[in-house]
Amino acid sequence: MTSIDSPALPGADGAPVAVVTGASSGIGAATARALARDGHDVVVHYRGDPDGAERVAEDVRAAGRLAATWRLDLGALNATDDFWGPLRARVDGGRPVDALVLSAGVDQRGDLATFSSTDIRRIFEINAVAPLIVMQGVPDGVARGGAVVAVSSVAARAPMTISAPYSASKAALESLVASAADWLAEREIRVNGVAPGAVATPMQTPERQELLRGSGILGEPEDIADVVLTLLSPATRWVTGQVVRASGPKIQP
Ligand SMILES: NC(=O)c1ccc[n+]([C@@H]2O[C@H](COP(=O)([O-])OP(=O)(O)OC[C@H]3O[C@@H](n4cnc5c(N)ncnc54)[C@H](OP(=O)(O)O)[C@@H]3O)[C@@H](O)[C@H]2O)c1
Repeated sequence: MTSIDSPALPGADGAPVAVVTGASSGIGAATARALARDGHDVVVHYRGDPDGAERVAEDVRAAGRLAATWRLDLGALNATDDFWGPLRARVDGGRPVDALVLSAGVDQRGDLATFSSTDIRRIFEINAVAPLIVMQGVPDGVARGGAVVAVSSVAARAPMTISAPYSASKAALESLVASAADWLAEREIRVNGVAPGAVATPMQTPERQELLRGSGILGEPEDIADVVLTLLSPATRWVTGQVVRASGPKIQP
């Protein structure tokens, strides 16, 4: 399996272009696959797992769409062009992005007193600062009429004691969804969020997945991808600035 980025998406054939961050795994991977089935060409972003990203890109191609993989550490953005500059190079032909999904994220659990300032900063950099910096470039990078979906967590409004920095970073992300939606309304770009409950991805340990599955409250990545797709689709053209809680039978505040 290759460990270098695949060639950029070639020029336009009229298909919409989607970019999914954190698409090498879990919810981002399921979303990239769902977008391909929906007729999008997809830029599969990843950081440390090129094989995972390439597997997803192969699935996109198997669905008859174009795919390019793209590596970027979202923990180290200094300016919006650090994201949009290399992204433009992944999409030839001046094709604007129609759908942007911000799924990359990290969690870390522990008693609040045990987190180092480096840990706290890393969680915020990836989960909240990067989406803010990426959002700054949306007016130029996303097509008029396009849409953005950020993947939050139910922990934003129901903070978890064992994940205080993560919960706080997701609350910041949900605030961004509201302000960016207002900011981008004039350009007819919608910004929404999905806040999943527990989902069966590497973010949950196998033991925890077993426990949650037994209680009937463990979602699959595809359950969330379907909500993301709905928020990107014309069916929700009159919806912006909202965060949908997607937690199966467990109702969340
Ligand atoms: N799973 C859950 O129970 C759950 C619940 C609520 C919300 N969420 C949210 O859902 C989103 C997706 O999580 P997941 O469950 O699908 O987890 P996952 O399977 O662990 O995927 C995380 C993704 O984020 C990418 N990523 C991590 N650090 C990065 C960095 N520094 N720069 C760029 N990309 C980075 C990873 O890329 P590489 O692997 O290539 O490094 C991976 O593709 C996250 O925002 C998470 O907070 C998850």
